[in-house]
Amino acid sequence: MLKKKIVLAYSGGLDTSVIVKWLQKKNFEVICFTADIGQGNEINIARNRAKSLDVKTIFIKNLKNEFIQNFIFPYLRSSSAYENFYLLGTAISRPLIAKELMKISYYTNSNHVAHGATGKGNDQIRFELGFKYFNPNIEIIAPWRIWELNSRNKLLNFCLKNNISINKKIKKYSIDKNIFHNSYEGGDLENLLFEADEHMWETTINNENSVDYPIYLSLTFRKGDLIKINNIYYSNEIMFLKLNKIGSIAGIGRIDIVENRYIGIKSRGCYESPAATIIMFARKELESIVLDKEIFNLKECIALKYSKLVYNGFWWSPERLLLQNFIDITQQYVNGIIKIRLFRGVINIVQRFSLNSLYDKNSSSFNEISKKLNQIDSNGFIKINSLRLTI
Ligand code: ARG
Repeated sequence: MLKKKIVLAYSGGLDTSVIVKWLQKKNFEVICFTADIGQGNEINIARNRAKSLDVKTIFIKNLKNEFIQNFIFPYLRSSSAYENFYLLGTAISRPLIAKELMKISYYTNSNHVAHGATGKGNDQIRFELGFKYFNPNIEIIAPWRIWELNSRNKLLNFCLKNNISINKKIKKYSIDKNIFHNSYEGGDLENLLFEADEHMWETTINNENSVDYPIYLSLTFRKGDLIKINNIYYSNEIMFLKLNKIGSIAGIGRIDIVENRYIGIKSRGCYESPAATIIMFARKELESIVLDKEIFNLKECIALKYSKLVYNGFWWSPERLLLQNFIDITQQYVNGIIKIRLFRGVINIVQRFSLNSLYDKNSSSFNEISKKLNQIDSNGFIKINSLRLTI
């Protein structure tokens, strides 16, 4: 019987490796797709593992620049975080992976796609909304939701039986890595009384051991996007690598939170995203001087909605695109240079500069007499505003 083709979003980890075998046993020809979005050495491991699993075709695509340009930067322009803290590093990567995977399914004539996300999380939704957006007729297989291998032990047994080599050091956490962040879930973290283990964090250094001198950085933005560090242009990728490194040694960008997943489960997650934390901070400082008050307020309202949409997997929705357009228009003014100081996990502002600045020293000053504002006019302003309250 002719084998049906299926394209699998393949990370090279234990779960997706088992999925390869499981699908092969169900008489699929498995085509693997691995997106290189900055997860480092995992890419080589994925390539070698796929070979050992008799995978005939594996596509590995370097998407780092596209990830930064078309997903990370647009998201950062929103100045939003999910439930105040989470910088959405996984949520913005899934729509890109879904888009690329659908291209491959098209070119390879595969009517089926699969992914390794569980039936309890957000990623299944993000992947599948993306798949459906690009091809409404696609057949999706999500093994975690249907198979019998529903525990770690069953998975390991399956590996033994099917000659799938297992890493000696089995990972203690479910980890998702890319150039924007590392995210850790599961394992010990499921116990809320358990302090995250220092060994868990792969990039950031804790505050006690971070460098004992302040690091000054100047960041230049054009239309809301970072273009220079310390007045030097770099490629997007190098900017991220540099800021990740600098932020890490200064202990910047760690969080440990409990978040509400879309399907309603509470989940504890630890995230480290030094570069993103630094850029987010500096961008907000710049927006504070260049955005008109009412535009700033509107943008704040939108940020809340935007972060929920992206978290819930609606990257490709018309409403996210609409909000993105609004946000992008506001960014024409977000040009300037922000100087910050990093020290022991804290970012401080040092200087804010922009040719588009709306900050009017004359109006704000305690010392100067303003040409635009006569203080006596505030009498009337308060009288009218308090009218309702006095009645
Ligand atoms: N909770 C985060 C989100 O929904 C991260 C999910 C993936 N992370 C992981 N460690 N498996 O975006």
